[in-house]
Amino acid sequence: MNIKERAQEAAAFLRGKIPEVPRAAVVLGSGLGGFAEGMEDALSIPYAEIPRWAVSTAPGHRGRLLAGRVNGVLVAVLQGRLHYYEGYDMDEVTFPVRVLGEWGVTNYIATNASGGINHGFRPKDIVLVHDHINFMGVNPLRGANEESWGPRFPDMTSVYDAVLMEKAEKCASFLGIQLRRGVYIAFAGPSFETPAEIRMARAMGADVVGMSTVPEVIVAGHMGMKVCVFSCVANYAAGMTEQPLTHEEVLHAMEETSGRLVPLLERFIPEAVSKDV
Ligand code: HPA
Repeated sequence: MNIKERAQEAAAFLRGKIPEVPRAAVVLGSGLGGFAEGMEDALSIPYAEIPRWAVSTAPGHRGRLLAGRVNGVLVAVLQGRLHYYEGYDMDEVTFPVRVLGEWGVTNYIATNASGGINHGFRPKDIVLVHDHINFMGVNPLRGANEESWGPRFPDMTSVYDAVLMEKAEKCASFLGIQLRRGVYIAFAGPSFETPAEIRMARAMGADVVGMSTVPEVIVAGHMGMKVCVFSCVANYAAGMTEQPLTHEEVLHAMEETSGRLVPLLERFIPEAVSKDV
């Protein structure tokens, strides 16, 4: 079975459980699971039940898909993502995106935790990602191209949707939430970066650093989905403070940040799916 057939099988399974196609998918990064609690009439499907879907092992990631309404809009929430550093290959990491695309979802909204590289950023800042640097050493589109999904050489110039970014900024300003803009650089992990790697990343133009999201964004862009990414700064990147980096610190900061990110997402989602700018 090729990857398209596998994605179709998983999408058919989801269609059987949830007849209405969600207007958007929301991927919750480390420590952001709280968003799911506010959803109306949510139906929960463990990843393990979805055919062909791998199960995440990262701490802080629950591993289930929720379909429910956010201010009346049906969304598919992915509580927990798959990371390259867990040992999955890129086809597995991006499989959920392929399934969402096959299902007919057109808005891909991702959240993640990151380290702040930009000297102007502080832990708990929320950053709207407007561009990325794929520093993982691999591209999820390597291999035979599925023409029905997208072109062999997809343009990434405007993969982060300008209209969605504007809407996100409008919602943030309405709520009095400061939203920064920045470039996200993805490392493969799982070791945190060295101070020298962070200096390099800053010189290359990166503002925040993480170990996820970029493969998903490339695949979502390949399928023509509209993409919007909110990155929550969990810590100063390596070498910027005396403190050692720990995953616990990341989760702790994310819990605090979710107090602002959750209301922002709740306001943003109906805006994101509405046609008018
Ligand atoms: N580096 C990479 N990934 C991360 C970091 C970091 O400093 N913080 C949260 N995710």
